[in-house]
Amino acid sequence: MARKIAIFDTSLRDGEQAPGCSMGGIQKLEVARRLASLGVDVIEAGFAASSPGDLAAIREIARNVEGPAIASLARALDKDIDAAWEGVRLSKRPRIHTFIATSPIHMEYKLKMSPDEVVERAKAAVRHARMLCPEVEFSAEDASRSDPAFLVRVFEAVIAEGASIINVPDTVGYALPEEFAALIAMLKTGTRGMQNAVLSVHCHNDLGLAVANTLAAVKAGADQVECTINGIGERAGNAALEEIVMALRTRGEAFGVETGIDTTKIHGASRLVATVTGSRVQANKAIVGENAFAHEAGIHQHGVLANAATYEIMTPESVGLPRSEMVLGKHSGRHAFDERLNLLGVKVSGAEGDALFAAFKDLADRKKTVSDRDIEALALGSANHEPEQWRLERFVINSGTSITATCAVRLVTVETDGSEKVHERVAVGDGPIDAGFKAIDKIVGRHLTLEDFQVQAVTGGKDAQGEARIRIESGGRRWNGSGLSTDVVEASVRAYLGAINVMERELKLEGSAASAASAASVSKGA
Ligand code: KIV
Ligand code: ZN
Repeated sequence: MARKIAIFDTSLRDGEQAPGCSMGGIQKLEVARRLASLGVDVIEAGFAASSPGDLAAIREIARNVEGPAIASLARALDKDIDAAWEGVRLSKRPRIHTFIATSPIHMEYKLKMSPDEVVERAKAAVRHARMLCPEVEFSAEDASRSDPAFLVRVFEAVIAEGASIINVPDTVGYALPEEFAALIAMLKTGTRGMQNAVLSVHCHNDLGLAVANTLAAVKAGADQVECTINGIGERAGNAALEEIVMALRTRGEAFGVETGIDTTKIHGASRLVATVTGSRVQANKAIVGENAFAHEAGIHQHGVLANAATYEIMTPESVGLPRSEMVLGKHSGRHAFDERLNLLGVKVSGAEGDALFAAFKDLADRKKTVSDRDIEALALGSANHEPEQWRLERFVINSGTSITATCAVRLVTVETDGSEKVHERVAVGDGPIDAGFKAIDKIVGRHLTLEDFQVQAVTGGKDAQGEARIRIESGGRRWNGSGLSTDVVEASVRAYLGAINVMERELKLEGSAASAASAASVSKGA
């Protein structure tokens, strides 16, 4: 029987640490649910001690997402480990993931600790974590630049304290495949207690070798691989889940291993992560890039038509991309629409399906043909729509070459007694979008910085839908929003408001978590 490789997804932790990839709690829950349906074995839901928002999001995921183990990262400090446990304890399969650096440069300059002190701290951290949680993972940060003999010493010590998963990170993406494989092979056989532990790897992509190093480690005996959707992550990112999984599957004979991933859900998961992080996938990215299955050259097209295997080593269907692009229009009925959703792997419940079909009809009225990309964009857009604090009722913009752009925006809020309150403001700006954003700022009364703003056509054609992605910043924190419309100004206004709504929800959630915690401490004291 093929050896099973556990897929540990850290999109919500290491992935989210990447500049501009921050996600709100509700978005994280949405991604976690998708990861569970993709079949990952472990979801690293966040770094609980890093912020109250992260802790709240981890708790929500632990409470609501079944199937995979739910992990939180923690430095080798009791307070971090306690916060991690607070985050994951409601999961059916909680895991605390604690780490400390083991390379000479990190120990001397970052930790200012001697190797002996690092061993003692690692042992104490695992001991404390094991008192709380049955499953503890230990990582030796910067392992690939550590002395291998010291790694063995640390790993033996933490296994003796009860760590059952030992992770070997190539933190700065420095390793080369053959030397990383040799390190893994040595650790597998040369570490006392490793035969009863899961040996894991975690590779960064600074030299573009994260996936190659991960695959080399699998050949050398690694049991778990840590990775992210679309390869998002610190600096150049982490090893991409979709590339590892498809390499293991497509070249099965070379590895003799299997994963529990439903590869037909890869494309959908990639699009969701790109949307919620606002981090686009490059067109030529392996597996999930727009061009990954496109055949432009005539000679290639001819070959593919004669026999797809001439230029395709895996089918688009195997990663969840339907081969034939079917175009729908305003005369298409519910049946054809539902069938297309099904083929695209979009799962919606009754009411969501009705709303999506209504959005499709509305789009089909404005656009001659509705493509798969349009439908996916609509589905992702509707997936993001949680109850909104601020609902856009309408906006009117006046702009042109010889007038100052002016925008009137009307937003609606639902008051605690259930009544609706209308808020309307007018602003002038440097162009219609700026005027729209300024009018919204006046209504919501917050000082927000626009950090990133992109608009891109979903498909070709003059009537294409524009997808706007926006990142706002306030007090050092960031939130993403996206909006979709055939009118790019409307898409932009919706994206801006979407980011504000994500922010409002986050702040509200954190506020209620904080008051619940203070109420609990008051009642304890009483
Ligand atoms: O890259 C790294 O070393 C990490 C560890 C904390 C696992 O992300
Ligand atoms: Zn990392």
